[in-house]
Amino acid sequence: MRSYILINGLSEQSLPVTDRGLAYGHGLFETVAVNLSVPIAWQDHLERLTEGAKRLAIPLPVNIQQLLEQDLIALLGLQQDVPQRQVLKITITRGCGGRGYAVDEAVPINRIVQLNPFPEYPDQPSQKGVAVTQCQTRLALSPQLAGMKHLNRLEQVLARAEWNDARIREGLVLDGEGFLVEGTMSNLFWSQGGNLYTPRLDRCGVKGIVRQKIISIAEQNGIAVHEGLYTPDSLADADEVFVCNSIIAIWPVTRFNCDQRQYPQWGVGPITRMLQSRLSAEGIY
Ligand SMILES: Cc1ncc(COP(=O)(O)O)c(C=O)c1O
Repeated sequence: MRSYILINGLSEQSLPVTDRGLAYGHGLFETVAVNLSVPIAWQDHLERLTEGAKRLAIPLPVNIQQLLEQDLIALLGLQQDVPQRQVLKITITRGCGGRGYAVDEAVPINRIVQLNPFPEYPDQPSQKGVAVTQCQTRLALSPQLAGMKHLNRLEQVLARAEWNDARIREGLVLDGEGFLVEGTMSNLFWSQGGNLYTPRLDRCGVKGIVRQKIISIAEQNGIAVHEGLYTPDSLADADEVFVCNSIIAIWPVTRFNCDQRQYPQWGVGPITRMLQSRLSAEGIY
């Protein structure tokens, strides 16, 4: 299956080399699951994009939602058979040029919208669980950028390059002070004694859309959610562990491979199952 791409609403494949996304990572992206042509958690993705754009002083057009929806409709229109599930990737950059780092205010943003095939996971990681490893790459503390899905993803690239054992599906990443932050492509939760725990993300890391949904669902179901600074040792006493993002939804973690210490093996527990079924009821796989 091929990918379908629009750049600024036009059927293009390339951008000028002066694009600031390429030069400086000056931009944002969103990865959105599309089910039966409907983008899942669409308003949440738009809100994160809009908030990130404000923080990076990227002037989004006032009708950005309409433009992106038109792009999606146009891309779907190019497909002969529309697959049930696809991945919509939106990239917004601060446009081309400027004098070095200085921005030329007159330059418009660039908008890249792609429809990609949904990844297949024949080994059913969301049912059977996955093994994760601990990455050596540390995330720098950067409150100014924390939470955003900006285009500077070099730490994730380095962390993901640390393993190539296909049985390991995710790597957990710590910050420079040794506290858990997230996975290379996901957010992290664990439960203990009926409470949920997740690292706070105001110093580094990406504030995931699914993470936010999970926090809301848990709270609606009377499960207290604690956001804090936790070391990997916290996982030693966890009852259930899982990672999440907009494409995988929830993958239960059954093993944590770490050189420093032994961790228990976990089953796929009731809190994880409840959250999975609530997300799937909302159309989020
Ligand atoms: C580094 C990182 N953290 C967290 C997430 C989860 O974000 P979301 O739930 O919005 O997909 C992602 C998603 O790609 C990610 O790359």
